Amino acid sequence: MSAAPLSLEGIHKSFGTKPVLRGLDAEVQAGEIFSIVGPSGAGKTTALRLLDLLDSPDAGRITFHGKSYPIRSPESLAQRRRMVLVMQNPTVFRATAFENVAYGLWLRGVPDAELRGRVFAGLDFVGLLEAAKESAEKLSGGEQQRIAFARAAVLNPEILLLDEFTANLDPFNVRLLEQSILRYRHETGCTVVIVTHNLFQAKRLADRVALLLDGRFVEVAPAADFFEHPVRPETRAFLSGEMAY
Ligand SMILES: Nc1ncnc2c1ncn2[C@@H]1O[C@H](COP(=O)(O)OP(=O)(O)O)[C@@H](O)[C@H]1O
Ligand SMILES: [Mg+2]
Repeated sequence: MSAAPLSLEGIHKSFGTKPVLRGLDAEVQAGEIFSIVGPSGAGKTTALRLLDLLDSPDAGRITFHGKSYPIRSPESLAQRRRMVLVMQNPTVFRATAFENVAYGLWLRGVPDAELRGRVFAGLDFVGLLEAAKESAEKLSGGEQQRIAFARAAVLNPEILLLDEFTANLDPFNVRLLEQSILRYRHETGCTVVIVTHNLFQAKRLADRVALLLDGRFVEVAPAADFFEHPVRPETRAFLSGEMAY
């Protein structure tokens, strides 16, 4: 039995007759930042949704510390509460920044005094303490994504899943969010899976990088090796931009 917090074994997934994932294998280690890169349409989001137990693979197994969870079972709900998925487009509710960050804690029935402390700490973590009482909808796109990150972070997830979470943001907010991820991982030891088509971001953040191509991880390697000494011709083509995507 695998002790890795997260492991994929022979994951297949098709939509209709179209195979998207054709045998994904990987083990994500505790506390690492594992980045999945690949062209648009490669199946990165599909893979992340499977990891978040939002959908089931057609074949293969996803395990957490060696255990798999049928989706929509009570056990899968418990596992889902140990991880958080942050999507590309921040979703903020028509409420204050404070209420947005508090949302998951309310759902979990966290007592009020503790909740307030955690929410303020979360807002402070992303530099938005001053915006606590402001309407989240009035904040900029970058600030809204920082709220979405804080909302995820205050839940103390064991696994943080990020899907193109800084796409379309200005450099200031990209930098702030990237620093937040690194600091958060450092402080909590949380395991992070980052999906991105931004190679520079993978280079800045990842411990290991996996290239998803034609439904498989064609190369999984420590970031330095992946970028400096890729083994596979497909990786070299992808890194050099020869591969159109
Ligand atoms: N729910 C779905 N129904 C049908 N096709 C889907 C669905 N989700 C994804 N796809 C298809 O699967 C492929 C991979 O999509 P996706 O995982 O979003 O790729 P990526 O995130 O790498 O850009 C695409 O061709 C997409 O159209
Ligand atoms: Mg995607």
